[in-house]
Amino acid sequence: MNRKWWKESVVYQIYPRSFYDSNGDGIGDIRGVIAKLNYLQRLGVDVVWLSPVYKSPNDDNGYDISDYQDIMGEFGTLGDWDELLSQMHLRGMKLVMDLVINHSSDEHRWFIESRKSKDNRYRDYYIWRPGRDGTEPNNWASFFSGSAWQYDPRTDEYYLHLFSKKQPDLNWENRRLRREIFDMMTWWLDKGIDGFRMDVINLISKVHGLPDAPTTGGARYQWGGQYFVHGLRLLEFLGEMKDEVLSRYDILTVGETPMITTEQAVDITHEERGLLNMVFQFEHVMLDQDRSSNLGKWQHVPWRLTDLKAVTTRWQKGLEDNGWNSLYLSNHDQPRSVSRFGDDGRYRVESAKMLATFLHTLQGTPYIYQGEEIGMTNVRFPRIEDYRDIESLNFYREWVAQRGGDTGAALAAIHEKGRDNARTPVQWDDREHAGFTVGEPWIGVNPNYPDINVAKALEEPDSIFHYYRKLIRLRREHPVFVYGRYDPICEEHEQVYAYTRTLDGERLLVMLNFSADTPVFVLPDAVKIVDRALLIANYPADGTQDRRRVTLRPYEARVYFLSKG
Ligand code: NOJ
Repeated sequence: MNRKWWKESVVYQIYPRSFYDSNGDGIGDIRGVIAKLNYLQRLGVDVVWLSPVYKSPNDDNGYDISDYQDIMGEFGTLGDWDELLSQMHLRGMKLVMDLVINHSSDEHRWFIESRKSKDNRYRDYYIWRPGRDGTEPNNWASFFSGSAWQYDPRTDEYYLHLFSKKQPDLNWENRRLRREIFDMMTWWLDKGIDGFRMDVINLISKVHGLPDAPTTGGARYQWGGQYFVHGLRLLEFLGEMKDEVLSRYDILTVGETPMITTEQAVDITHEERGLLNMVFQFEHVMLDQDRSSNLGKWQHVPWRLTDLKAVTTRWQKGLEDNGWNSLYLSNHDQPRSVSRFGDDGRYRVESAKMLATFLHTLQGTPYIYQGEEIGMTNVRFPRIEDYRDIESLNFYREWVAQRGGDTGAALAAIHEKGRDNARTPVQWDDREHAGFTVGEPWIGVNPNYPDINVAKALEEPDSIFHYYRKLIRLRREHPVFVYGRYDPICEEHEQVYAYTRTLDGERLLVMLNFSADTPVFVLPDAVKIVDRALLIANYPADGTQDRRRVTLRPYEARVYFLSKG
């Protein structure tokens, strides 16, 4: 397996709106990021993925871009951004920019032109179709509720938007558009950035003819994924992008790829013929949704550890020697990982450390989402007016339209799964608004900030923050953390997740208790724990002599060095 810097890195994701506000307007900004670079350096991460900072009307917090080559006023200026890049490079850190090119904002000049007339030079940069008997061209649903089509009276046609109606999909069939996108990417790369995270990149090739999606259940709009996920020309488009842009730079590229299979991921991330370094898959973050329900992610079901193991093993084994995994438990679209996969009450600290151990001991590149390193939790705002996320607000609106007054269940679903769980401001200290801003924050701060905050985490030697630091350091010191082969142990166990990692003469044993119980775990004969080989654990050593039968404490995590015998 080839050794690469982007395999050995740990990436930290910043959602700038919620990170740190430097000028008191209640909105995080680029100077706020600069102010916290020493903090990130202390944590030990070497790459920052910055969620979009481009000009945007913020229908979807920057994932709707109106100018790809300028910075959103609320976040600062291009000059601020230049300083951010140079301050990061000074510290030996790398900057990965978010690239949102499946769609633009409807306020992008291309779309403003495109909608003017059917023969406009930019018409074909987007996907326009005539209606069908006075309704939408097909029955596809938008990811953000309702139809994926919007009628535009000016030319009496509809345009496609897989996300909000202010996020029209770009038409990748158009060679001129592709050229413009590649030029724009080159412009950023020539400024010295170190990579791209590509938003829903596996949706850019739509099937010709845009047929109706099969109808399941009674809903008017249906999931049309089979006609735009990993479409016919996807690899061709990415190949062109690689030839014309990416191959000329030594960068980190990661594609966000919902619904991707391991086979498709190997095609995209293959060591030799791959197009991107790695992809984000979604299977582990769909384990707690009822896939048979029309409510999609909002229909919560309890997840099972054996399912998490099966998914993880399939991805670890599927990409071993062929591709490369990206590892994440949370991001700006997901609930907080400690609330979802751990216990954000009594065992918050233990379970956050256990999950951190999981994240850093799999084969792949780990991604930490802001606040995860101090164990930030989900939030439960009491009123819908407290929420800001378009996906949650649209879901709520549709719920009320269809079911009327019983909004308790809709709010409960938002508490469980809403994206704003991840978007409350980073809790820096115990001052008002958690030290995020001296103004009025654009979204409320989680009320638990007096107890959970960075200042406190830095002070306490046993904090989650210091545990993350140690994991990052271990990963840097021992290549087996990065490159070792993954082999699961006892996959049927419902509470303990254990596996080994092997590289040349070195082997790690990882044991993770995903429960609040004290399960007994019996190691197979082939796995021997050598004296004093405990590398990291989230409890003090327990002094047990029996090295085959291990009793794990609630959410306990241990990583051992093993003899290979
Ligand atoms: C995925 C992004 O992560 C999410 O925040 C956004 O809403 C959609 N893509 C649309 O850009």
